Amino acid sequence: MCGITSYCGNKQAIPILIEGLKRLEYRGYDSAGFAVIDNKKNIIVKSQGKVLKLEEKKAGKKIDSTFGIAHTRWATHGEPSEINAHPQTDCTKKISVVHNGIIENYLELKEELIKKDHKFVSETDTEVIAHLIEENFNEDLEDAVLKSIERLIGTFGIAVIHSDIDHKIVVAKRGSPIIIGVGENEFFAASDSNAISPFTKKMIYLRDDEMAVLNSDGYYIKNFKNEILEKEIETFDEVSFKTDKKGYEHFMLKEIFEQPETIENAFRGRIIENEGVSKLGGLIPVLDRLKSINKLIIVSCGTSYYAGLLGRYILENLTELNVECELASEFRYRRLKLDENIGVLAISQSGETADTLAAIKEAKRKGALLLGIVNVVGSSIAQITDAGVYNFAGPEIGVASTKIYTSQLVILTLMALLIGRYQGLSYYEGSQVICALKNIPDKVREILNDADKIKKIALKYSKYRDFLYIGRLYNYPTAMEGALKLKEISYIHAEGYPAGEMKHGPISLIDENFPTVAIAPDDSAIDKMISNIQQIKARKGKIISITNKDAKKVIDISNDSIIVPKTIPILQPILNIVPLQLFAYYIAKQRGCNIDKPRNLAKSVTVE
Ligand code: F6R
Repeated sequence: MCGITSYCGNKQAIPILIEGLKRLEYRGYDSAGFAVIDNKKNIIVKSQGKVLKLEEKKAGKKIDSTFGIAHTRWATHGEPSEINAHPQTDCTKKISVVHNGIIENYLELKEELIKKDHKFVSETDTEVIAHLIEENFNEDLEDAVLKSIERLIGTFGIAVIHSDIDHKIVVAKRGSPIIIGVGENEFFAASDSNAISPFTKKMIYLRDDEMAVLNSDGYYIKNFKNEILEKEIETFDEVSFKTDKKGYEHFMLKEIFEQPETIENAFRGRIIENEGVSKLGGLIPVLDRLKSINKLIIVSCGTSYYAGLLGRYILENLTELNVECELASEFRYRRLKLDENIGVLAISQSGETADTLAAIKEAKRKGALLLGIVNVVGSSIAQITDAGVYNFAGPEIGVASTKIYTSQLVILTLMALLIGRYQGLSYYEGSQVICALKNIPDKVREILNDADKIKKIALKYSKYRDFLYIGRLYNYPTAMEGALKLKEISYIHAEGYPAGEMKHGPISLIDENFPTVAIAPDDSAIDKMISNIQQIKARKGKIISITNKDAKKVIDISNDSIIVPKTIPILQPILNIVPLQLFAYYIAKQRGCNIDKPRNLAKSVTVE
């Protein structure tokens, strides 16, 4: 979704801003723009569509500026258009504002400002911020921003400049990320570290209700009470920001193929083999509380929700906890009784998903222990939770989540091991899980070596318009996630179902034009899966099965089978999802879809 970047230093600002915008493209957007000051003139360039178009628009214009702000917009208030793109400006056209988040009281503020003769041109909530700052401006931009944000209800990460004020950028954060980059006599602010990582590895994460003022010889940080804050500068290594495709045609394919390493990164240094337990440094500060909770509620969205659904089965298998899994967007509106004996675990790749953030804020209010599994270091969810575990999987750029899903499953297993070993789980049981886990990367490699076979099957089915995905027990979430992968990148209708539910409705859809992907490994549910497959065959439905080589009956009754190596049942879904990611990828490629940036989707969903 929306992205912000900004620069204040002694180099030409526009190339740095454009490079930052390009590095924000993966988040999904529909328009882009920048504002720079050239000799006290506020120059705003905006365009609908890609950053490339913005670059073309700028080409030929002679602009000399060493500070400015820029934005990629994902439409919320008002259609995607040049007028609605950011930066937004005020009546004097001297103030420029870029904004991520949503201002809930913007209509009320707009009416008030219109009565004071302000003229609005866009449909955005952001334009209200520019006019409010104009209203409060009295030669001091920082003071005007502070006074204005006092009036805002909702979420915002903003960056503001004024053409009368040389080399000053004011940024502020509430509920939407802002990161400050510290370079040599140059300073940056962005909503995502990717935007500024080519220029500096030294960063400061602002917390909610904090603001920063950048100029060419320094910066300072304050809270909204106007008190100066001393904040630590964190230095990140090169690996945290690697975002090239490494020769793969798409980021999604590269990320699918990275899974042997990202799975290993998720457990490396986190297992104590001779005790049959895991060691999760991020949870040490809350270990005593963790031991005393009797219930865990997992909250998340999309793919992270399916990881949570599977996490419920894993935790129930290895611990004595009562485990619930809830969509974050529903959880926050329920009438919930939470207390300190309940843990709430947020799972989120981006750490910025608005629904998940809102859910854990609700849980915090009610006193639950807040835990997180997050990929993006320093993200909002990582900051709010009491403790958590990072994926350390590197940036995931493809909008469809792949490597983070399997990494989340590994971490959920490690968490279950940790809690379980304080409860009934024996050393022997713990060791068996660890032994199986250590073999997973090689088994994933085996599957990836079969990519060509999977591609052949995918091409055979690429013209169908509807698919059903079914699985039982641990593979019910796999069916949901497999269907999500196909629909989001190929725009084919795909439904994931627990196989047992099929006869309660979806089976009426089945005919020769409606193939089913059956996730049917050689486990305790295999006989039931076989009878579901037979019911589909009896209605002329085609079957593509994901199964193991010894499951001869499944292979015999399937039209096509993808064979994956076998592991223990709780880890089998990590292996089963890999061919489904590839299946979706090859179908989408065959159909000519925009795989890394599917229509209407954003990588980081920062609106509710
Ligand atoms: C699907 C996908 C989304 C995300 C969801 C939650 O491939 O990526 O469904 O899983 O938007 O995002 P995070 O994990 O960042 O909270």
